Amino acid sequence: MSIKVMSVFGTRPEAIKMLPLVHAITKDPRFQNLVCVTAQHREMLDQVLDTFQVKPHYDLDLMTPRQTLTDITGNVLRGMEGVFAEAKPDIVLVHGDTTTSFAAALAAFYQQIPVGHVEAGLRTYDRYSPFPEEMNRNLTSKLATLHFAPTQLNVENLARESITDHVYITGNTVIDALLSIVRPDYVFHESALDHLSYEGMRTVLMTAHRRENLGQPMRNIFEAVLKLVQRHPDVQVIYPMHKNPAVRQPAFEILGHHPRIHLIEPIGVSDMHNLFTKCYFIMTDSGGLQEEAPALGKPVLVLRTETERPEAVAAGTAKVVGIEREDILREAERLLEDPIEYKRMSQAQNPYGDGHASRRICDAIADFFNSPSRREHC
Ligand code: UD1
Ligand code: UDP
Repeated sequence: MSIKVMSVFGTRPEAIKMLPLVHAITKDPRFQNLVCVTAQHREMLDQVLDTFQVKPHYDLDLMTPRQTLTDITGNVLRGMEGVFAEAKPDIVLVHGDTTTSFAAALAAFYQQIPVGHVEAGLRTYDRYSPFPEEMNRNLTSKLATLHFAPTQLNVENLARESITDHVYITGNTVIDALLSIVRPDYVFHESALDHLSYEGMRTVLMTAHRRENLGQPMRNIFEAVLKLVQRHPDVQVIYPMHKNPAVRQPAFEILGHHPRIHLIEPIGVSDMHNLFTKCYFIMTDSGGLQEEAPALGKPVLVLRTETERPEAVAAGTAKVVGIEREDILREAERLLEDPIEYKRMSQAQNPYGDGHASRRICDAIADFFNSPSRREHC
């Protein structure tokens, strides 16, 4: 009998990283595939579902404007109870550190359904940064039975918390997605990207959305970017803005009036990954971009005070520059003006796997269900 695997996710980055795995599960006769989205994100999630051509079996459709963490947690917990009662999955897969992931893992635990945690073991060891993600992933590790860790460092982080059973080193599924998407002959879907001139310009790709950066840190970031463009006539910035109104309002206010700053809507993941290849460097507070940029040899300035992805820093591609205006500006100008530093940071390195993470996760799940001792661990 096939193993009923339900993947649960709700935000853009979870979808990008779970859908290669969903495809692998669908093709594998050992499994029956079920997908449940919480739609913690609506438009940004649907954009990814469309790209990967996946239609979820269940959709909690819970996003509300300016939702609180309590809203998301309560709605996911309540919603998943009904879904699990109807679908009766043998195992539930969640991803990373979102509130969807934590609350879905808790809901599965309440039904005594084993949880597999994809992208397990990332830590900053600062409970308020990133907030609430550091606590979400800690709690998800406690709830999970299977732990799919992208790197050896992630395995060691889990071991420090005495989590050593059913820990598998898999690589990150984002590399599975990236390798299937980036192509030299790519034509953008978003016409704004095709109409921009990249020749003779240095293009900086920016994203910023983190909760702990909302307010003054976000304003610092935007002011640094505005200064950067004002001081360097050959620099343009492309910023696909997150849908969060708390991000967009200051973005329009501070960056909305400069002809070389292009504020655009969120772009599809194929456009995004292929846009990397046109960029000189990347400025971001996103987690996923820190994993994608090293694989493509693009320097990343991390607009945060810490990172749970030190592998990218060790590889030389990422630098944590903080959230102060002058620090951000100085490091961005260093990349523009210092060719040795630029070259050092733009070596293509990929600490996050070989593009076969999904296959390893499938094999680990099948082995777990074949193992006679599995009941003791659920
Ligand atoms: C969430 C995750 C964060 C992840 C990020 C990826 C939590 C607590 N946070 O943060 O870990 O890095 O997603 O982007 O799980 N909105 C829309 N349409 C969309 C998406 C969002 O309008 O498609 C707006 C809504 O007003 C929503 C707000 O953005 O209330 C915030 O969304 P939310 O998921 O709560 O937080 P994020 O900052 O996106
Ligand atoms: N991304 C995208 N379109 C955009 C911005 C980002 O497809 O307009 C992708 C990006 O390449 C990465 C993921 O979304 O794979 C990161 O998502 P986000 O920054 O929302 O969340 P985080 O990684 O910080 O959790």
